[in-house]
Amino acid sequence: MKAVVTGAAGFIGSHLSERLLADGHDVVGIDCFTDYYRRARKEQNLEVARSHRNFSFEELDLVDADLTAALEGADVVYHLAGQPGVRPSWGHQFDHYVRDNIIATQRLLEHLKESSLKRLVFAGSSSVYGDAEAFPTRESALPRPVSPYGVTKLAAEHLANLYTRNFGIPAVSVRYFTVYGPRQRPDMAFARFMRALADGEPIEIYGDGEQTREFTYVSDAVEGTIKAATSDVVGMVFNLGGGSRVTLNKVLATLEEISKVEVRRQQLPSAPGDPRHTGASINLARERLGWEPRVSLRDGLTKQWGWYQDTRSGMSSSASRPND
Ligand code: UGA
Repeated sequence: MKAVVTGAAGFIGSHLSERLLADGHDVVGIDCFTDYYRRARKEQNLEVARSHRNFSFEELDLVDADLTAALEGADVVYHLAGQPGVRPSWGHQFDHYVRDNIIATQRLLEHLKESSLKRLVFAGSSSVYGDAEAFPTRESALPRPVSPYGVTKLAAEHLANLYTRNFGIPAVSVRYFTVYGPRQRPDMAFARFMRALADGEPIEIYGDGEQTREFTYVSDAVEGTIKAATSDVVGMVFNLGGGSRVTLNKVLATLEEISKVEVRRQQLPSAPGDPRHTGASINLARERLGWEPRVSLRDGLTKQWGWYQDTRSGMSSSASRPND
């Protein structure tokens, strides 16, 4: 099978590419290395996949590139490319979110209209729910994003859906809930917390730390994504959540136990665009994908902390630490 992964140099995209290669598929990775964080880190993310003979890589921007050759003969396209990050999506930055989340998705869908694709999996986000009325939140809840980022992810998800209805593109969306693990993006909470711990700096907490997230370990997110490509579920949307909702304060306590480093905190004001809570109902994914998250928060945090330390100690200068 030939799979195309957009955003292959990113956090989840690189893990997904490796898993597909390990499963024996041919993988074409696409990425345009936006400058949201350092290119060197994304090149590191790609190292394992690049060493595989069934992997090829195309540096392409979905908005204006000719994608014909890269998409030729693809059975499945995993569309993970986009502009991530909830809190920076205000002000002038919004243009990047519109371009890389909405326009890029629309261009990709236009390319796929005439193809004989078996499945498109769109990487959606828990941020489409905003401050949900009920927890755990089901896919049928009215989406009401509270960040500009969430608005663009919801728009892209709707685009995928209407290309399914009008042109028969066999699309499925998965809504990831705060994914973590090795290679986590440097702007995300756990990556920032670990860097601060290792540097002996205080950990910056937005708000009182009593906000909850349904943190999802990256291998669980990857597994659910692949199941969305292979199950009979065209046109559907699935929450992929890690299985439990925890407060940031609980995360910090667990991280302190794992790292054996005393956590010092600095409380900052709550960030505009952050929902207070997220929590996934995963019954639909259980029933229709046969998917179940397997990695507990403690185990996942332990793995990410181990990775962080290995990667950090392998670097010679502070300028090339893994979370820069
Ligand atoms: C994450 C990703 O960044 C989004 O791209 C993704 O779409 C989203 O998950 C999702 O679930 O859909 P977020 O939940 O904000 O967004 O993830 P983190 O950056 O890991 O933040 C988690 C929590 O920690 C938030 O409440 C945030 O305010 C808090 N936080 C983050 C801090 O208190 N301090 C920090 O330094 C960073």
